[in-house]
Amino acid sequence: GGRIFAQLMHGGRNSHPANLPGGGIPVAPAAVAAPGRVHTLDGKVDPVVPRALTAGQAREIAEGHAEAARRALRAGFDGVEIHGANSYLVHQFLADGTNPRTDRYGGSVAGRIRFAVEAVEAAADAIGAHRVGLRISPGNTEGGMVERDPAPVYRALLAALAPLGLAYLHVTDDPRFPALDDLRPRWAGTLVGNTGEHTETTRESATALVASGRADLVSVGRPYIFNPDVVERIAAGVAWTPIRGKDYHYGSGPHGYVDLPRHDAVATLRSSVSTSENIEE
Ligand SMILES: Cc1cc2nc3c(=O)[nH]c(=O)nc-3n(C[C@H](O)[C@H](O)[C@H](O)COP(=O)(O)O)c2cc1C
Repeated sequence: GGRIFAQLMHGGRNSHPANLPGGGIPVAPAAVAAPGRVHTLDGKVDPVVPRALTAGQAREIAEGHAEAARRALRAGFDGVEIHGANSYLVHQFLADGTNPRTDRYGGSVAGRIRFAVEAVEAAADAIGAHRVGLRISPGNTEGGMVERDPAPVYRALLAALAPLGLAYLHVTDDPRFPALDDLRPRWAGTLVGNTGEHTETTRESATALVASGRADLVSVGRPYIFNPDVVERIAAGVAWTPIRGKDYHYGSGPHGYVDLPRHDAVATLRSSVSTSENIEE
């Protein structure tokens, strides 16, 4: 009875020839390499200097979100979330550190938000705005991102998106920019909040976030890795298995997700109720 959205993510400079068909060079707003190491199937490697997109190519990739959204629906998803957070391509256009462009995709606040707005509009035109969400993480320095002054950029982005009637805006808070405080009053639509990797999402923190009015919904990340049955645990009031470090984030070895047990109480709950409505109550 739930709904499932596919997140659409273009890695931009965080990609690597080893990840790309034909071993191509990753593309980005500018030829500025990411610091640190990037993920490949063979583990972490040094990044390559990305190829700067022309304005025409940027437009083409933004519009490509339309076909990606259609395919997600054909694959059975209820909608798509465009990944505008955590240092990937949309974020690279929004941030001044990765976007020194002076053409229509950079230069000013209006220029820096253009790629994000076009990508969201393309997906919304293709499948309906009520099936499209956008995720943002203002101030997040992951992947070497630098945003000297996030406020005007993200406020302008929200103002540009407001008329579309999106399914939701998904905002990750960050110690460097209080995005939920700043943007909630500026977004009349549904807002999904996430407290970010610096804080652990718990039942209490999630409840408090909604009670504070700074989010309508809360997204749950790492606890879901360690509790594949977290939905049932919330419904049943059962304690969550505490989160653990990155070695257990199912990216560095066999531990995690699939080998964590369901809670006993869930099995009991399942046999004592017959419908999902009962579980929600
Ligand atoms: C292993 C791992 C993978 C992640 N992958 C994504 C992703 O694909 N897209 C995304 O928007 N966030 C991703 N995140 C960030 C989470 O969505 C979330 O913002 C973060 O874990 C903090 O929330 P939490 O305390 O509920 O885990 C990932 C986090 C982890 C730990």
